[in-house]
Amino acid sequence: MSSVLADVDRSVDAIRSADPRTAEPFVGLILGSGLSDVVGKLDDLHTIPYPEIPGFPGTTVVGHPGELCVGTLDGVVVVCCRGRAHLYEGHDPVTVVHPIRTLVRLGARGIVITNAAGGVNRSFKVGQLMLITDHVNLTGQNPLIGPNDPALGPRFPDMSNAWDPGMSDALRAAAKAAGAELPEGSYFGLLGPTYETPAEIRMVRAMGADAVGMSTVLEAIAARHMGCRIGGLSVISNLAAGDGDELDHAHVAEIADAAGPTFFALLQGLVARRSTWWEPS
Ligand code: HPA
Repeated sequence: MSSVLADVDRSVDAIRSADPRTAEPFVGLILGSGLSDVVGKLDDLHTIPYPEIPGFPGTTVVGHPGELCVGTLDGVVVVCCRGRAHLYEGHDPVTVVHPIRTLVRLGARGIVITNAAGGVNRSFKVGQLMLITDHVNLTGQNPLIGPNDPALGPRFPDMSNAWDPGMSDALRAAAKAAGAELPEGSYFGLLGPTYETPAEIRMVRAMGADAVGMSTVLEAIAARHMGCRIGGLSVISNLAAGDGDELDHAHVAEIADAAGPTFFALLQGLVARRSTWWEPS
């Protein structure tokens, strides 16, 4: 067994002993800036601080508390990573994807990856959620570089349906039922930590970007490598550089926060429609 998988299994064991509900089939959530308060809406919440889970990274960014939260939503177990590690903090790609690999190995039936992002598509409004239907990895990094462990996944993973069509349909239906707009698009993941220049935004717009951010793409790669379904939601926390006001993180987090109720409604709808996307065991 590779050391990567052994490290993941150590985290799995610690989480299983801290909360045996994680042995049941569950929905995973990676909660980005401003969206992590959704855990307060779960029933029977149990919080495990990242420092109590071997291998879990420390988080340094405001809005990323660094806790694993286990709860239930309409009787279904939900396991949330409240806070994530980013490349721009100096973490290597394997550390960045350690939490999502742990969720998959624990047995997640599907994982919703969320983030705050800059809106590149000119039809987007600040505060809206965007359904991620595809991505471009512009970080220059990849968590799969190095020897491949076939126990994790194949050497050359197929990324043609990276963002699960079934989960995406369930999220679309949930948005419709909640009366929320849910525009769709491609998320371009950049390294950061600088926000983009207006010229960089013109470049990614020409390349087909709808939203830009500094997370998500490596996690998506790691989860798909392991064969787990993923769905994605970006809160459009600001218009991309050159299109709106100056960018700052406090503002980004505040706007993302306001999208919380819609996000929860989408989550409820996704769980209620799980028979349409999660595979029977
Ligand atoms: N650019 C990159 N990352 C971001 C942005 C942005 O405009 N907004 C929130 N995260």
